[in-house]
Amino acid sequence: MTNLLITGSAGFIGSNFIHYLFHEHSTQLRIVNLDKLTYAGNLENLSNIEKQYGGSRYHFVHGDICDAELVKKVFQEYQIDAVVHFAAESHVDRSIYGPAEFINTNILGTFTLLEAARESWKDRQDVVFHHISTDEVFGSLGDEGYFLENTPYDPRSPYSASKASSDHLVMAYHHTYHLPVTISNCSNNYGPYQFPEKFLPLMILNMLEGKPLPLYGDGKNIRDWLYVEDHCSAIWAIVNHGKRGETYNVGGENEWQNVDLLHKLCQLMANKTGKTPDYYLSLITPVKDRPGHDRRYAINCDKIKKELGWKQSVDFEQGLHKTIDWYLSNPDWIQNVKTGAYKNWLDTNYIKR
Ligand code: NAD
Ligand code: TYD
Repeated sequence: MTNLLITGSAGFIGSNFIHYLFHEHSTQLRIVNLDKLTYAGNLENLSNIEKQYGGSRYHFVHGDICDAELVKKVFQEYQIDAVVHFAAESHVDRSIYGPAEFINTNILGTFTLLEAARESWKDRQDVVFHHISTDEVFGSLGDEGYFLENTPYDPRSPYSASKASSDHLVMAYHHTYHLPVTISNCSNNYGPYQFPEKFLPLMILNMLEGKPLPLYGDGKNIRDWLYVEDHCSAIWAIVNHGKRGETYNVGGENEWQNVDLLHKLCQLMANKTGKTPDYYLSLITPVKDRPGHDRRYAINCDKIKKELGWKQSVDFEQGLHKTIDWYLSNPDWIQNVKTGAYKNWLDTNYIKR
């Protein structure tokens, strides 16, 4: 594989994945980033990559994965032989208040990519379509148990239902057309470049501005947290060595109640900023619960560990430090994301290039 199409890599995980590939695997890959640049897409995340590799080993294509003509053209022009598909609407709260875009991008967009791959690759088996999915497709757990690869799907938000639907399409293309596919279902990621609508960056930025820290419901919902670079290494292991037609669970084996995590974050922020933990704790504000809020996610990722030798490498304490430090040392990124000014940055720095 040399010509890799990565969709949605101006977003959080995708941009980390491109950084990971260029830093950790200085192979002869040519990477094409197809991204619509929605509110969550930010080319500033990749400005150093563009500077160093733009036009040679890295190409940005501005466009929608639902645009069949464009997607077909990208496959032909760049002779794509591997796809890593991140592009999605990704935030549960947004899916509750406006599900339509989730159906378009997550379901129809995935379908459009699968069709382009099928048409372009025909019966080739030396190619791969890797689909990035989430543990949220499995639904909500009680106090006990873990999601396994064969746990029945039971999605409960428009976001997770759209991801579940796309997972089924990907597998259907394998069974029906023998398309060489793999899927990863990963737990909550955290790290640099995450858009500040998700729990950790939202709380960090609100703490910096002395704003309320909105804690949904009783705060006892549980999530499993994985540092984003560990997700990237799992994806790359699956792309290269995963069995085609299989799914792999990826997780941190690191469960936290939201309220406990928020307390920990208050402590870490206090250590770094010189304010007292009590100052940050006083900002915590219980708010109305998210409708249909899944209670607990927990991943069993024995399969990828045993079969592909993958394991997490960043412990939670270390990962939180790295994440907070990144936000503290990138005030311009924060400012640009918050004001939408990176759109202007895009006009001047990319399009006129
Ligand atoms: P993100 O919201 O940060 O980024 C999504 C990217 O996709 C953006 O760059 C956006 O511009 C692009 N995009 C959206 N619609 C598009 C379209 N129609 N055509 C082309 N590009 C489009 O998302 P993320 O958190 O980086 O998540 C990436 C993937 O990983 C998603 O598929 C998500 O479901 C999955 N995932 C995320 C997490 C997590 O914790 N964030 C966990 C497990 C799985
Ligand atoms: P989120 O980052 O939206 O990820 P997901 O819902 O996909 O797991 O939320 C993580 C957890 O934090 C989830 O249980 C909802 C909760 N939450 C809050 O309590 N307050 C907030 O402001 C946000 C965004 C999330």
